[in-house]
Amino acid sequence: MRRRWYLLLVVLATSLVLPAGPAAASTDKSADDPEIVGGAPARAGEFPWTVHLSVGCGGALYSPTVVLTAAHCVGRSGSDSSIEVTTGLDRFHPTQRVRSAQVKRADGFTDVTGGNDWALIRLARPLTGATLPVAADTATDSGLFTVVGWGSTREGGAGTATLRKVQVPFVSDAVCGDAYRKAGYGFVASDMICAGKMDTGGIDSCQGDSGGPMVRRDDAGAWRQVGIVSWGEGCARAGFPGVYTQASRFAAAISRAAAAM
Ligand code: ARG
Repeated sequence: MRRRWYLLLVVLATSLVLPAGPAAASTDKSADDPEIVGGAPARAGEFPWTVHLSVGCGGALYSPTVVLTAAHCVGRSGSDSSIEVTTGLDRFHPTQRVRSAQVKRADGFTDVTGGNDWALIRLARPLTGATLPVAADTATDSGLFTVVGWGSTREGGAGTATLRKVQVPFVSDAVCGDAYRKAGYGFVASDMICAGKMDTGGIDSCQGDSGGPMVRRDDAGAWRQVGIVSWGEGCARAGFPGVYTQASRFAAAISRAAAAM
């Protein structure tokens, strides 16, 4: 008897979640559908400092020989020639290709909900192209951000061949931390910055976007890296914004670590 009620519930819930028919299914490609979740293709040269890592992550060129990514994308610090780093919109047809030489994972990193989710990869040789400066202070830690990556276009979906982008508004630590703590997650306000749409969801980074940059232009119009794709509850869900490593908080540590590589 219990089992029957359970089945009925599942059927009811499924009918609420799944599109009803062809008409609903055709809205699949609408702009606010969960894609990079809810995004659009990047144009050639639009985010020239974005790199793809063979470990299924993104990254940003911090200098011609150093990539900034997420700690959870790499192994422990030390020599590491296992990661292939590529540039270009199409990750299957890269414009440049180079191997890693060394990895520096942030000290104190254990898992994404504990903070410190950043790492540097030193490349075997320099890449040519623009580099992306990390926000030096919190002046750009609000407003509207852009996130880019080759990750899933929907929760549980596949990654993409070509780079995608999406704009996500800032969500305060108070609101974001509260939502995640209530759901039983750790949240380290000092190390994390959130972005997304609390009320509707529909736009977000997702699996495979990790390590990639969240950026914004500063008052002078120059791109600054504000965040590193880190984690979230599912992707693009209402009530659960994307959680990013707050780059400004680690600007000094990243600069020191890069100089020491
Ligand atoms: N941890 C994921 C990765 O390794 C990134 C998840 C981001 N999730 C989100 N809802 N913004 O690719």
